[in-house]
Amino acid sequence: MMRDSDYEFIRELVYSHSRINLGPDKKELVSARLGKRLRATSITSISDYCRYLQEKEGGEELSHLIDAISTNHTYFFRENEHFDFLNTIALPEMVKRRAKERWPRFNVWSAASSSGEEPYSIAITLAQFFGMTPSWPWRIEATDISHKILQRARIGIYREDAVKNVPAAHLRTHFQKGFGPQEGNYRVKPHLLECVTFRQLNLLEGSFPFTEPFQIIFCRNVMIYFDRATQTELVNKLANLLVPGGYLLVGHSESLSGIKHSLTMVKPAIYQRAHKP
Ligand SMILES: C[S@@+](CC[C@H](N)C(=O)[O-])C[C@H]1O[C@@H](n2cnc3c(N)ncnc32)[C@H](O)[C@@H]1O
Repeated sequence: MMRDSDYEFIRELVYSHSRINLGPDKKELVSARLGKRLRATSITSISDYCRYLQEKEGGEELSHLIDAISTNHTYFFRENEHFDFLNTIALPEMVKRRAKERWPRFNVWSAASSSGEEPYSIAITLAQFFGMTPSWPWRIEATDISHKILQRARIGIYREDAVKNVPAAHLRTHFQKGFGPQEGNYRVKPHLLECVTFRQLNLLEGSFPFTEPFQIIFCRNVMIYFDRATQTELVNKLANLLVPGGYLLVGHSESLSGIKHSLTMVKPAIYQRAHKP
């Protein structure tokens, strides 16, 4: 069981760095979530974990702690460098290679999609890039372990403060503003909803059910929950699902250093599969 003083320490730390306010009723939940971090850091008690966070070396662990506490936490255009990378590098490059490679479709996978903000941000980026009547069809697969969160994602309704990172012009093009009882809500328009397929999938289980490879895979802010061996297995499975020259995007707090894989890092949190020899 977690000591009250340890809980108070975690509570204050989380609040000061993320503004997530954990009430006294969350002690059990936090204790369960910390279990994942204890396993990942090989620390055996919560008190030792708190001491580790207080030390200098624990600085990096803080972002893992926050993510562990806020499991489904996500937002539109999170880590915007990835969307800039799509616009300026990856998409123009893939368009150039398309004819030679005979790729029938441009496929993207959001591998821990949570409540949908990530795959819809990708969809907005692709819709803007390819236009409303694209000459190259594109599709987004969005998966998550949680059935409950996927239900929310499929509905595609977000509160006003959740869409604050969506540029105003994109908001007008891709969302319907609610009125009456829906005042303050924004609904993703059907043309975007139809481009995203949501399905439940546990990244740690078996083989993946896809029949086509992906030009881009987003697997962000989920690997932090896994130990090194699991991360290694997963990264290698994801790499095999990329087309040659395809990109794997991971969260900026998730380093692949220490993991044996065949990808090349092209920028922080962006990895590329080798081109065909
Ligand atoms: C912090 S959210 C990340 C959402 C989004 N990728 C982002 O970066 O904003 C982590 C998501 O990973 C999902 N998740 C956790 N373990 C998983 C697993 N084993 N397989 C698939 N999804 C998992 C959770 O349900 C949660 O929705």
